[in-house]
Amino acid sequence: MNKSKELGDFQTPKELAQLVIEILRKKDFIPDVIIEPTCGKGSILLEAEKYFKNSNILGIEIQRVYVDFLFPLIGQNTNIVNADFFNSIDFIKNFIDNNENLLFIGNPPWVTNSELSSINGANLPKKSNIDDLRGIEAITGKSNFDICESIIMQLISEFSDRQSVFAFLCKTAVARKIMQRLWKKDFKYKNAELYPVDSQKYFSAAVDSCFFILDCTEKKSVTTLKIFNSIEEQKFIIESGFINGIYITDVSKKDSLELYGKSIFTWHNGIKHDSAKILELKNDNGILKNGKGEIVDVENEFLFPLLKSSDIANNNFEIEREILVTQKYIGESTDYIKNKFPKTWSYLENNEPHFCKRKSVIYKNKPRFAIFSVGDYTFKPYKIAISGLYRNLNFVLIEPKNGKPVMLDDTCNYISFDDIESAKFVFTLLQSDVVKEYLSARISFDSKRPITTEILNSINLEKVAQLKDKANDFSSLFKIYISPSLFTESELKVV
Ligand SMILES: C[S@@+](CC[C@H](N)C(=O)[O-])C[C@H]1O[C@@H](n2cnc3c(N)ncnc32)[C@H](O)[C@@H]1O
Repeated sequence: MNKSKELGDFQTPKELAQLVIEILRKKDFIPDVIIEPTCGKGSILLEAEKYFKNSNILGIEIQRVYVDFLFPLIGQNTNIVNADFFNSIDFIKNFIDNNENLLFIGNPPWVTNSELSSINGANLPKKSNIDDLRGIEAITGKSNFDICESIIMQLISEFSDRQSVFAFLCKTAVARKIMQRLWKKDFKYKNAELYPVDSQKYFSAAVDSCFFILDCTEKKSVTTLKIFNSIEEQKFIIESGFINGIYITDVSKKDSLELYGKSIFTWHNGIKHDSAKILELKNDNGILKNGKGEIVDVENEFLFPLLKSSDIANNNFEIEREILVTQKYIGESTDYIKNKFPKTWSYLENNEPHFCKRKSVIYKNKPRFAIFSVGDYTFKPYKIAISGLYRNLNFVLIEPKNGKPVMLDDTCNYISFDDIESAKFVFTLLQSDVVKEYLSARISFDSKRPITTEILNSINLEKVAQLKDKANDFSSLFKIYISPSLFTESELKVV
């Protein structure tokens, strides 16, 4: 087990700690008590101490060496304890006592519960499923959360009824998730702000991060999050928010929510298999090679052309890879391959250890060579795809290659069609300015995977057709009637 990774041990550089305090200093708030739940070597705690001279400060840190390091450096109003935050809530409550003005500040570990389980880590809250997610969501990873997220959420739920400010460095996705969770609960607060932090510069980490402030010193019915350009410049850019239960990244584009609805075609992700080395084969002048560099000789039946996210984003339709698709639908037994397609079977069997090593629980108790995100839709000839990973809104229309439908990897989103006419028509709608406007209003481009099937499935294509004077073509092509937008003009207002 990698202890440092489990504890998300990236100490905040002094320069960044100073910026954090500089932003808080501009607020009209002097806390009675400051809590740093994971204080490490104390760079944020010591900066806070310098400015908030009369506040009582408590720092908690799980690693003894850091507590020993920090102890000689703290002033008389500061206390530090060597403890696990997840066992310290009662201690924090006692420390706070009846004080009303509270500042919670710090940089909790940026590590997810699934990363922890992959390193057999134990740094977890007692009640780890903070969204009460069950069944399939828990299995497919929707319940995946940052330890940082659970620390901040726990503090908010315990202390936000007082005059409190929560100010944390965290992944940008965590700050957004926390806000969405609070909005759904009709949480009352005064103000929320997000300042992007260059994590490459300060932590040598390739992740989108920010300084997130939630000010609960007043309880108001606001549903917005102010986004600034950077922690250094602190220039306001846009407001994200929650309108009629829908998250919108840029509330100034709220009119585009007239497209919000339900797509008549279902967007899917490409095939998920976690076995790229074995199932994805490179075509080297007609010779297929797997990720181990071995020549692969299998029947043609299961081989399909493959495009990856990078191909879709860069309009590269040269097929360089093929994929071995072992199932036609989820759960299909793979045993029949043995008699009908012996070369494919022996290739799969020879590589069985690789399939057994797949970590995700989705493969548990499933056929040996199981894959996911397959169904009728996978084998339809025409597809419209967009990469989930890239920030450009590039839809592509994909036609079959050598008589076979093209497959996509699991980071792509797509819809599929039986005929080219329908595919071309929908493709034109998706490329329209109104769709671009809607997507750019709704997508959080700072997420690791900004473009999701959830957002794509919320595009009301009938409405797009209507706005583009193609309503009649739409009805005659798809034999359905145009339904009105879900919201009236007056409902699309920000509170
Ligand atoms: C990202 S570092 C930041 C440290 C410090 N807040 C700063 O800004 O420099 C996270 C710190 O959290 C500590 N930590 C991790 N899990 C903890 C837990 N369950 N309770 C208390 N501290 C913890 C780690 O040892 C590490 O020092």
